[in-house]
Amino acid sequence: MDDRFGMTLPKAELHLHIEGTLEPELMIALASRNGIDLPLSSVDAVRQAYEFTNLQSFLDIYYRGTEVLRTAEDFSDLAAAYLRTAHAQGVRHVEMFFDPQTHTSRGVPMGAVIDGLTAAIAEAEASLGMSGALIMCFLRHLPVAHAMETLEAALPHADRIIGVGLDSSEVGYPPSMFVEVYRRAVAEGFVPVAHAGEEGPPEYVWEAIDVLGARRIDHGIRSMEDPALVRRLAADGIPVTVCPLSNVRLQVVDRLTAHPLPAMLDAGLSVSINSDDPAYFGGYIGDNYTAVGAELGLDRATLAEIARQSFRSSFLPQRRRDALLAEVDAAVDGDAS
Ligand code: HPA
Ligand code: ZN
Repeated sequence: MDDRFGMTLPKAELHLHIEGTLEPELMIALASRNGIDLPLSSVDAVRQAYEFTNLQSFLDIYYRGTEVLRTAEDFSDLAAAYLRTAHAQGVRHVEMFFDPQTHTSRGVPMGAVIDGLTAAIAEAEASLGMSGALIMCFLRHLPVAHAMETLEAALPHADRIIGVGLDSSEVGYPPSMFVEVYRRAVAEGFVPVAHAGEEGPPEYVWEAIDVLGARRIDHGIRSMEDPALVRRLAADGIPVTVCPLSNVRLQVVDRLTAHPLPAMLDAGLSVSINSDDPAYFGGYIGDNYTAVGAELGLDRATLAEIARQSFRSSFLPQRRRDALLAEVDAAVDGDAS
């Protein structure tokens, strides 16, 4: 297969933690700008520390990395760097997760985080023709009351946030714990999504859809262990945002060739391919498309259908969604001629 096809295909990224796009070079530059001493001071040393055995071993390093993010400018620089790379890998629309509690707990104002991220998205809209939106995630390892306070603190910024999500350590923190927070979030007009079925069992995916009302499931790969759940996701067209390279790096799957993505497609699930935390997992979204194309033997037609699915699974208004779907068709036609 031509390596460039998966890279250049127009696509939406629906599972992307902006804090997980912090490359070591920027981490070191921001540490210097903010007068912070990093325990590891060279790019190579930082990158070599990125060996993970499970989700928690990653999260411990990921949260430490965020400490260099202090000002609106830092968040804007972070998002601008991601958006440039994503654009070069075919991303036309992104629904970006951010973790407000990681920053507010260090004294960074919520407004600074949101100002920085929205400034970078506005700039990418103007200069690159991209679109973008923010989804704020609650950290499930922190108390539920803290999530509720975070939701309330976000209300003055609600016009700049489309949805709420749930991330961080999964096992032991079932989605149903957050039912009151999600009820309030939905009442305030936020679209609900949730990480479930990454390391956690299929029951967590059931809870995410039935208790929280999640409109999209992030990861969701362990759904494949429960045929009734697979039938439900397929029947209701509930999209699943899959992150293949992340799953390999966090040892959620043994190797890419063992990834359940083909079985998910065969089962009729609405699957998109995403990068999750590309600075930590060895690849951005186009790298994920390319890797699954090569290692799982997905042909161009299948990759193009996944790209279409990414737009259909987005929360974009119909007109822009249709325009972006037409861009996929044009890319496929151009490739065939
Ligand atoms: N899972 C849970 N929490 C996260 C992830 C993830 O893959 N990435 C960043 N926070
Ligand atoms: Zn994630």
